[in-house]
Amino acid sequence: MCGIIGYVGEKAAVPIVLEGLRRLEYRGYDSAGVAVLTNGAIERRRTAGKVSALRNLLARAPLPGTTAIGHTRWATHGSPKEENAHPHSDCTGGLVVIHNGIIENYLDLRADLLRRGHRFASETDTEVVAHWLEETLKKSPAPGSPKEAEAAVVAALQAATQTLRGAYALAILWNKAPGIIVCAKTASPLVVGLGRDENFLASDAPAFLSHTRRAVYLEDGEMAVLSRGRCRLMRFDGKPLARRPVEIPWNHSMAEKGGFRHFMLKEIFDQPQAIEDTLRGRVPFSGLNFERETGLTPRVLSRVKRVRLIGCGTAYHACLVGRYWMESLAGLSADAETASEYRYRESVMPPGELVIAVSQSGETADTLGAARMARARGAKVLAVTNCLGSALAREADFSLFTRCGPELGVASTKAFTGQMAALVVVAARLGLARRALARARASELANALLSLPSAAAGALKLGAEILKIARQLRRAEDFFYIGRDLNYAVALEGALKLKEISYLHAEGYAGGELKHGPIALIEKGVPVVALATRSRLRDKIAGAVSEVKARGARLIAVQTEGDPPLHGADAILWLPDISEILSPILAVIPLQLLAYHIAHLRGCDVDQPRNLAKSVTVE
Ligand code: AGP
Repeated sequence: MCGIIGYVGEKAAVPIVLEGLRRLEYRGYDSAGVAVLTNGAIERRRTAGKVSALRNLLARAPLPGTTAIGHTRWATHGSPKEENAHPHSDCTGGLVVIHNGIIENYLDLRADLLRRGHRFASETDTEVVAHWLEETLKKSPAPGSPKEAEAAVVAALQAATQTLRGAYALAILWNKAPGIIVCAKTASPLVVGLGRDENFLASDAPAFLSHTRRAVYLEDGEMAVLSRGRCRLMRFDGKPLARRPVEIPWNHSMAEKGGFRHFMLKEIFDQPQAIEDTLRGRVPFSGLNFERETGLTPRVLSRVKRVRLIGCGTAYHACLVGRYWMESLAGLSADAETASEYRYRESVMPPGELVIAVSQSGETADTLGAARMARARGAKVLAVTNCLGSALAREADFSLFTRCGPELGVASTKAFTGQMAALVVVAARLGLARRALARARASELANALLSLPSAAAGALKLGAEILKIARQLRRAEDFFYIGRDLNYAVALEGALKLKEISYLHAEGYAGGELKHGPIALIEKGVPVVALATRSRLRDKIAGAVSEVKARGARLIAVQTEGDPPLHGADAILWLPDISEILSPILAVIPLQLLAYHIAHLRGCDVDQPRNLAKSVTVE
């Protein structure tokens, strides 16, 4: 997830672009850059680091001009460094591009452009767009006027949209088309801000809210051509579009959170997109993208003899779910370990062990220490992380990135579902490479994964019902979460979410374990959340439910639409029907919302809860 912005008008463009990038930093902040088109020439300034580093660079080396585009990056392809910072240029330096999204077929396009003599300066997917447009414009007649140049670059971008695959919000400057910014949108957000004698484009409205509240949100398959006094909208096929502008009601703070009260709530609602982006190009399991981006070729995968997943906190809970998938999909013996324990244990490490280190930040000290220990003892390490360029990604043998965008709430939400989505892909790839997963089952799983984003959106519709439950439970002091099999980890995660943001006592337990002691704590009115989604063990969890109901518990059940309601449930949260093996990815969503609403009702600081840090970089 990156932040893009463009300005064309009569004012100095760079200060406006810099301010816009600062307001978009929540979308990405590992490198930044700007390009200005003035007097028929394009100049760039780019830097690793945050927008403040770009501001300092521009203070030393200013760029005058009234047409500019800018970008703040959250790396998905190519580590965070100046060479990979946007805007990216073609060979001539006369055309630049900024991009938010993922070009799935960039490797094939890059190979073709290299064969045609293009020289690349970065490792990014985005740069192929600049060279592809350059190649296309070379074939069109040299423009005889700015108007002809505008028509040529619009046509070139329209042609590009027929070739590029993946998600993109693109903005382009071409030195032959002065005072023009051309942009296109598919699957990544792009909004146009309409000013007086000036126009803006951005990933999100906060970038230009201080200049105008009149906006047009582009839909997939749409383009815009911006000049100082004009905004032309059209479809990719060139068909003109008329769109009534909306008046954006938010203040800046709300706008940065997309209108949500907290980053955590925004990130809970980001999950359908985060899951979709994490799976993009990786499902079905046959594409070359996976092995090209991870290095995990079928040959490497077929040599894996067992798997050990390591992580901390929520990431450890993702490891617990991943363990089930390594066994059921890959046919491999697997363990899930808290990194803080594993790193100091004299564990036995058989040959052929793959250690999968899961970490949103990629900087958690215990996870890093455990991964280093494993590597030192001969294991191969795969990092599953949300942060390119993180220490874990740099040190691992292989890396698979979740594409959730920055997660700013201390409580991990979209990173968790993104980690699980990534782990399913790894398990399926292992299973296919080891011939432990039948192709028919793999394609069923792929179809189920492709329907996951919309199922997650369905689960988010439970918000109002969950708020009602939260109001009833806001004064409870002790909570139990119970789940079995795949949902045992979800019970642990639901309890952790509640603990860490509402400061209430909550326990997650394997449903079969209650009768071995904890049930002594159940008394009248104690809230128990039962994960009872469709599963071969659902009747077993029903047994645990009747045990707690018999002792007066207040029961909230999470179930799958179409199943018979759990007897005795005081409230049932119905989830969309999804393949049982993927149920944990959906089942956690209502628990995230429950924790959020209870914490907010109790007046807690949801985004920055006491005593906690987003990344625990010390032991
Ligand atoms: C999750 O809500 C917590 N904030 C915490 O447990 C977190 O998951 C843990 O510290 C691991 O962080 P990482 O994923 O960045 O390694």
